Amino acid sequence: MRVLSGKKILLGVTAGIAAYKAAFLVRLLVKQGAEVKVVMTPKAKEFVTPLTLSTLSKNEVHSSFTNEDNDNAQWNNHVELALWADLFIIAPATANTLSKMAHGTSDNLLLATYLSAKCPVYFAPAMDLDMYKHPSTKQTFDILKGFGNHIIPAASGELASGLVGQGRMAAPETIISFICSEILKSLPLQGKKVLVTAGPTHELIDPVRFIGNHSSGKMGIAIAEHASSLGADVTLVLGPSSVPVSDKSIDVIDVTTAQQMYDAVHQFYQTTTIAICSAAVADFKPVTALDQKIKKKTGEGLSFDLEPTKDILASLGLQKKHQFLVGFALETENELENSKKKLEKKNLDLIVLNSLRDKGAGFKGDTNKVTFIDKDNKVTPFDVKSKKDVARDILEHIISKIDA
Ligand code: CTP
Repeated sequence: MRVLSGKKILLGVTAGIAAYKAAFLVRLLVKQGAEVKVVMTPKAKEFVTPLTLSTLSKNEVHSSFTNEDNDNAQWNNHVELALWADLFIIAPATANTLSKMAHGTSDNLLLATYLSAKCPVYFAPAMDLDMYKHPSTKQTFDILKGFGNHIIPAASGELASGLVGQGRMAAPETIISFICSEILKSLPLQGKKVLVTAGPTHELIDPVRFIGNHSSGKMGIAIAEHASSLGADVTLVLGPSSVPVSDKSIDVIDVTTAQQMYDAVHQFYQTTTIAICSAAVADFKPVTALDQKIKKKTGEGLSFDLEPTKDILASLGLQKKHQFLVGFALETENELENSKKKLEKKNLDLIVLNSLRDKGAGFKGDTNKVTFIDKDNKVTPFDVKSKKDVARDILEHIISKIDA
């Protein structure tokens, strides 16, 4: 999982010699897939140029409330900048800026932005060893930690003064891994194993023909990707689907038939915390799949015998111990009644009902309209939403139940 991918990161650069490392930090953040904007203190521009940072971040760099050199100067809105950010990293953070942050001073754009920020704030101090050890600096750190800000401790080594000790700004790689591990620790599904089935199954008639259905796999893939973004270790057992799985940390097991899906799912179920079966598994398969293509004979029809496939979800319900088990129900009539019966029969914790009678619900589209029925018989209907938002609702519901 790329923790910083897609995150909007505001980097605050203050006037310390380590400011030159801000260029590497911007580069690494962009490489992680983050969108980066930089705000600098006016003096920081003496250590690293805004041109370097704007080129690397591909965004304009701000350092004053107005662009003073420009006759058409516009107000740089610190509030907008602060609210834009998912994360604010101040690196390097000098003793001077940290002290001002601790006491609410806002005599430059960076400080005003800090005061307006609602997102998590990380700061990487950089100063000489005696400044780092000074009681007032320690007090500053405690005040900032008390505000909920995160300190990325300085490293030890040779300092700009020539002295050796703690005070060097943490290396850009260390800053990134520190932030990633803090974010991971706070994710609600961190360390949990989530098993998802998705897509259709194809039951072979002969080498070129099969019994299948219109499922695209989109709903299950959205669930798998959202679970992964919440820190889960996700295994996705996926029937034939042309929808790409963009999160490369998901363990995708490609299967074709219901039997293969059954085998794959049972391989992972014992150690699973949450199992979500969204696959549209074929209910019947030909008794024998022929090795050779069936030839047509003029004027003659064709019939062959079908037998039921194994019900994967029901088998998981039978073996359920600690797992939270979720099934889907696709209904065309008596939706609530049929879903409640399925929930009980298959020993589920939650069933997600889609009615084919609802506009915006179903297999191929990007939207779905669902109703949750949980094992306490609580019925929660939702509006038509994107499949990504439905995935979010499902996982939010599960998290609220497993944390309760
Ligand atoms: N399911 C399964 N294995 C099967 C059939 C269905 O795991 N062989 C799962 C689906 O992934 C879904 C749930 O069972 O989570 C409900 O599927 P659905 O087709 O709506 O219900 P069925 O139990 O097959 O009953 P029916 O087709 O009669 O409505």
